[in-house]
Amino acid sequence: MSDTWRAVEIAATDTHPVRLAVLRADTPTKQVSFAEDEWPGAVHLGVFDGERLVGISSWIPRELAQRPGTPAFQLRGMATLTAHQGRGVGATLVRAGIAHADAHGAQTVWANARDAALGFYLAHGFVVIGDGFVDETTQLPHHRVVTDWSR
Ligand SMILES: CC(C)(COP(=O)(O)OP(=O)(O)OC[C@H]1O[C@@H](n2cnc3c(N)ncnc32)[C@H](O)[C@@H]1OP(=O)(O)O)[C@@H](O)C(=O)NCCC(=O)NCCS
Repeated sequence: MSDTWRAVEIAATDTHPVRLAVLRADTPTKQVSFAEDEWPGAVHLGVFDGERLVGISSWIPRELAQRPGTPAFQLRGMATLTAHQGRGVGATLVRAGIAHADAHGAQTVWANARDAALGFYLAHGFVVIGDGFVDETTQLPHHRVVTDWSR
């Protein structure tokens, strides 16, 4: 089904409406920009349904604290508009982002995953490392997930 969709590069600010609608719907903060958004090498990917941006993800070159010295990308701001969830948009974004990270020398992609979305990451080959924690910004339970931990 995800062959229907295509991920394209967008500007950091383009992500804001979807971040607000999906990731800030029930959080104490409505902050939609991340300090890392403009880091060198940071890339923002979007999926459009016609003219409408319906899914987003941000890919930040950033080492994983548990694996210092290993080139890595952090996946942040993964979100699909509610009406478009479950239709392969997220899968398209993750595949494109991991391909981008691979092409730029990353050996690991990692994310701080909301527990409510953990199944999504596990479906895409991520594994959980460490104990769960409550994210300071969202106040939601999370686990850290990584790809290719064995490499
Ligand atoms: C998590 C999210 C980004 C997934 O995007 P999506 O476009 O719905 O994902 P897809 O339709 O591509 O689903 C891909 C696979 O992951 C699974 N999946 C998707 N969301 C899931 C969830 N919340 N829990 C468990 N599995 C999930 C799907 O069943 C699908 O598996 P399948 O291919 O075997 O059917 C989306 O549901 C979302 O925006 N959720 C709210 C915000 C959020 O929690 N973001 C993550 C922050 S860390």
